[in-house]
Amino acid sequence: MTACREQCYKQTVILAIETSCDDTCAAVVEPDGRKALSNVVHTQTEHERYGGVVPEVASRAHLERLDGVVERALSDADVPLDKVRRVAVTVRPGLIGALLVGVAAAKGLAYARRLPLVPVNHLEGHVAAAYLTDPGLEPPFVALIASGGHTALYSVDQNRKMCLLGETLDDAAGEALDKGARMLGLGFPGGPAISRAARDGDADRYDFPVGLKRKDDLDFSFSGLKTSLLYKLKAMNEEQLNEELPHLASAYEAAVVEALSRKLLRAVDLHDTPAVVVAGGVAANTLLRHTLQERCAKIGTTLIIPPPELCTDNAAMIGAAAARARAVPYPEYLSLNARGV
Ligand code: KG4
Ligand code: ZN
Repeated sequence: MTACREQCYKQTVILAIETSCDDTCAAVVEPDGRKALSNVVHTQTEHERYGGVVPEVASRAHLERLDGVVERALSDADVPLDKVRRVAVTVRPGLIGALLVGVAAAKGLAYARRLPLVPVNHLEGHVAAAYLTDPGLEPPFVALIASGGHTALYSVDQNRKMCLLGETLDDAAGEALDKGARMLGLGFPGGPAISRAARDGDADRYDFPVGLKRKDDLDFSFSGLKTSLLYKLKAMNEEQLNEELPHLASAYEAAVVEALSRKLLRAVDLHDTPAVVVAGGVAANTLLRHTLQERCAKIGTTLIIPPPELCTDNAAMIGAAAARARAVPYPEYLSLNARGV
């Protein structure tokens, strides 16, 4: 028996499941929610040819893969099922059919072993990735969540309670990147595709609007950016588009990064917070990470951005959130339901 195996067998763990969108995820997390022993993510490639996530296809793929993903999470962690102390699962928000697959599986696992079940909000999960990244981190801090479905700023208090400070009035940042990438004829998901296309681009070649730049509140807007790209593309023929693609992608990406950075720093200013957490799929973006590292260092604010694999959807973050969340005792959770919003 390996040293890890001995250690893992001694303690109980949290088994977490996440199926809110197009990633089938399971993870094993230590009971204090500060360390992931495994984190398995199966990203569904079925959606690529549609240029976006198809809800029915996502649910079906979760159904087919979730058992295998859970087994793999336990075997990667070298932990038997009887060491699981609580089962955690994302219950909202997300695609309802996709969420239901994870919730049904989690209920089944918990019920069969008479374990408590912890329902987790996906957005709280994204923020909790920071507790895995910096095991000493304690709130209060300001958190920016930028994902495919959400873009919002929160203040997080000592009890980990999240209070909304501002949010997008239209598209989410990830959605703006996904839609922009589609207009530019790039792949899905759009965020990484735009970054790849932007590699040799000159961001100053094009001027894109930064949403609500001059407004003093903490809301975001990305619809003007999208419209601006549409008009620029309408004025180009195919040859010009091919030539200008790296510059357009680079300027578009820079405008999204500027909008996010500007409002986050404004929140730091208003809330006088010593630390900020940035989470969600868009936080995997290299330009955003570099920009925020530079700007936060300048003003002496501690910045916690999880590694890219903990920014995009995963179950380790759900386990981390579950460590301090209320568990529903056996068998009360049988009537628990998923919610899309
Ligand atoms: O958090 P996430 O995995 O799923 C949701 O909860 O929505 O975020 C997915 C979003 C997509 O819009 C995707 O384009 C974006 O995150 N994304 C990125 C990067 N990786 C994923 N955006 C910019 N740069 C990336 N490297
Ligand atoms: Zn997410």
